Amino acid sequence: MQDVQLTVNGENHRMRVDTRVSLLDALREHLGLTGTKKGCDQGACGACTVIVDGQRIASCLALAVQYDGRQITTIEGLGTAEAPHPMQRAFVKHDGFQCGYCTSGQICSAIAMLDEYRAGAPSVVTEDIGATDIRLSDGEIRERMSGNLCRCGAYNGIVAAIREVAVSTGVSEQ
Ligand code: FES
Ligand code: FES
Repeated sequence: MQDVQLTVNGENHRMRVDTRVSLLDALREHLGLTGTKKGCDQGACGACTVIVDGQRIASCLALAVQYDGRQITTIEGLGTAEAPHPMQRAFVKHDGFQCGYCTSGQICSAIAMLDEYRAGAPSVVTEDIGATDIRLSDGEIRERMSGNLCRCGAYNGIVAAIREVAVSTGVSEQ
């Protein structure tokens, strides 16, 4: 057992956890933040994606004790029903979900992905990895989101939602 302090959505939580507890289980089982979903529990589906210090991670592959003092954002920290995050609003507008099980992971991943793109990070499908003006094509969005699976197949709506946010926030021209 080990003491750990997790800063989740701006709130500090001290807890004593088994060193084998994943960050996902700490969020869901210890803090009751069940918006982050467990799909595969082995890093393959992306349902458990959260944002840590601005970067997206699969929380099922992370040990809670590794994240002592780090800034963790989950879907509960992004917006509310009354004031949703622009990415949440866009997912609703473009039907970017059906059952919703993958959606919190998709949204956390999409927000951090646009930050990665804005910072100039290339993807596997980027033709010129030295380019400073990578075009955010549908292929780029799909590749950059390929770690987040949707068994309902809402991919077209997900891409449309991400594109709308990218354009409306000036991350991409079109
Ligand atoms: Fe973590 Fe599937 S539950 S990647
Ligand atoms: Fe059902 Fe994506 S909306 S798995």
